[in-house]
Amino acid sequence: MSTAPDIKPSKFIGRPQSRIDGPLKVSGRATYTSDVDLPGMLYAVPVCSTIASGKITSLEFAAAQAMPGVKLILHRGNIGKLYRIPGNSFEDGYVDEQRPPFEDDIIRYYGQYVACVIAETFEAASAAAAAVKVSYEVSEHDVSTTLGVHDDLKVASERGDAANAFEQAPVKIDELYSTPVETHNPIELHATVAHWDGDSYTFYETSQAISNHRGTLVQMLGVPKEKVRVISRYLGSGFGGKLWMWPHSLLAGIATKQMERPVKLVVSRKMMFQNVGHRPTTEQRVRLAANADGKLVSLRHDFLNHSAIADDYAEDCGEATPSMYSTKNLRVTGGTVKRNVGSPTSMRGPGAVPGLFAIESAMDELAIALEIDPVQLRLLNEPKVDESSGLPFSSRHLVECLQTGAEKFGWSKRTPEVGSMKRDGLTLGWGVGACSWPGLRFSAEASVDLRADGTARVACGTQDIGTGTYTILAQLVAEHTGIALDKIEVGLGDTALPIGPISGGSAATASVIPAVSDATRAAVKMLLSRAVSAFEGAKEEDLAMTSGFVHRKQDAPERGVPYAQILEAANMHAASGSASAKGGFNDPLKKKWSIHSYGAHFAEVTWEPETARLRVSRVVTVIDGGKILNPRAGRNQVEGAVMMGVGMALFEHTTYDPRTGAPINSNFADYVMATHADAPKLDVTFLDHPDTVFNELGARGIAEIGLAGIAAAITGAVHHATGVRVRKLPVMIEDLLG
Ligand code: MOS
Repeated sequence: MSTAPDIKPSKFIGRPQSRIDGPLKVSGRATYTSDVDLPGMLYAVPVCSTIASGKITSLEFAAAQAMPGVKLILHRGNIGKLYRIPGNSFEDGYVDEQRPPFEDDIIRYYGQYVACVIAETFEAASAAAAAVKVSYEVSEHDVSTTLGVHDDLKVASERGDAANAFEQAPVKIDELYSTPVETHNPIELHATVAHWDGDSYTFYETSQAISNHRGTLVQMLGVPKEKVRVISRYLGSGFGGKLWMWPHSLLAGIATKQMERPVKLVVSRKMMFQNVGHRPTTEQRVRLAANADGKLVSLRHDFLNHSAIADDYAEDCGEATPSMYSTKNLRVTGGTVKRNVGSPTSMRGPGAVPGLFAIESAMDELAIALEIDPVQLRLLNEPKVDESSGLPFSSRHLVECLQTGAEKFGWSKRTPEVGSMKRDGLTLGWGVGACSWPGLRFSAEASVDLRADGTARVACGTQDIGTGTYTILAQLVAEHTGIALDKIEVGLGDTALPIGPISGGSAATASVIPAVSDATRAAVKMLLSRAVSAFEGAKEEDLAMTSGFVHRKQDAPERGVPYAQILEAANMHAASGSASAKGGFNDPLKKKWSIHSYGAHFAEVTWEPETARLRVSRVVTVIDGGKILNPRAGRNQVEGAVMMGVGMALFEHTTYDPRTGAPINSNFADYVMATHADAPKLDVTFLDHPDTVFNELGARGIAEIGLAGIAAAITGAVHHATGVRVRKLPVMIEDLLG
């Protein structure tokens, strides 16, 4: 095992740092969107359709209108003109549900908004919403989760002749895997507080992408950019569900303008299952073929996901497939199938998470067919370059992830026969799954002020979804200046700030590193240019800033001058810098390098056949995510992802009632997620190899990768314990009763 080369000794980067916004949150002083309370505020409650397909024939408002406190009922007749986004570009406004609310009378999914009541109180609005009578002409709907994956889908990646190589090979696997609809369930509900002040709008939002949110509002409302400000200071997580705007934000925006009063709309937990996206169900056929020595000779991956009637969200299950393993012959194809459901959307690790469930499960099945250890099978098929593009990997340590994980887990003690391992009267199952997630970065702007009162401020219009972005920004400024973290104020979550990246794609950290670092260096440069007079005979280039002191480079920092004194002497309020950095899906770096994070999960389950009790008892995860800037927050992320993986493997699935088309388990009692009581013993290791191709600190991303591969490790362990191979998630107890 090689050891990680460190960039340079650092006081701030790579240290396990508590979140600087932690005290605000645990003391209840962090204001989340639904906490925003403005004078004269009204409350909006949408009316949702109770059919999944058809047409509205009438809406009766008389009774609702007459109820106390009701101010307005928005519907197709009075909502006014809303616009679709031409092109739906990721740069200036992207949405998954492109249809503006009430655009037509057609109902395409259960729960679709058909009207919206605005009243003096939430209770009054709720009661009136329930009193709106809607009549429908009902058509047949389709919410079936059987998709019918076939051979003629769109080719996403191809090399060699996968079909022929498959035919010729001595050992093969050909299986169908499927993953269910999963619903994002952050504790914080989606919410909008919209405020039209007579001239412009302010939207307090639960948004993982305020800049995109503004771009979407601007286009769909048809108003100038400078008239819309979006604020999202604290988020109770999002998991991708809060990346793109959903129609409720527009309803609140229309209502505040019409009423000339602020309007709050909080999406209910039930609506969270209907109106703000979900991970679509997927069906994936995987064909693997190998020679008897374990060398892969053919890999085929064909996948479908369901999508909405009016939109075409594609879950790219084949994202990781072409570069995961070495094989001469490969074919990856995909497509979508229309269902009467709200639009699916990105959910933690979109594409790779369901995709790697299938691929890693198939690898486990192939290992069994070959009678080769599943870790060994992966090591045997480790590629030297990204075989889908021929590009070199910027930094890939999957082999080390597998080896380190195997060692920590005690994998060498595994006996492969089903049910052969016991402990304390329980049957043990051990499984493994590898994972990958692309290294992404988006454009970012940032500004930094080093202030005469001895504090600093850094601003970037990105968001902190609970993962530690406030802290990372402070760490970056501290790294370049030595100013203590508690003296650094961080501004984010406001479109009035320099434009920041989305909090998505595990890309926020890598996106802010160059802009914030350059802005800090620019501020320091300005400071040093003013410091020259304090150091006789010194030129700017002889000076440096360390530990908050300006000093001659050859001297210890404390022999210099506190930077605040330099500013005071220069009669300056602050030394400031700003910078921007480019990124995006067309990042030129991606033409030269294959950039991904990697990892391996080792899972242990315990099985009691007498009572059909299955538990995940232990997980060892090793992640190669580049340099980890804050190992404490980073470990939290991966632990959370593994817990989500326990839920993915054993519990989570949104069920649609075939009669009504409604997601019927749309509450916390019936939609089962992994909780503390389900937590295995978690052991997370970061390899911490800096990816300096990607950025100066070598950080990639770690938010999503932890959820990829874990479900396959768990179902592999379930097979090892019980002999039952579950290819359709989640594992149900019924599956194991043989
Ligand atoms: Mo993530 S699904 O990009 O929030």
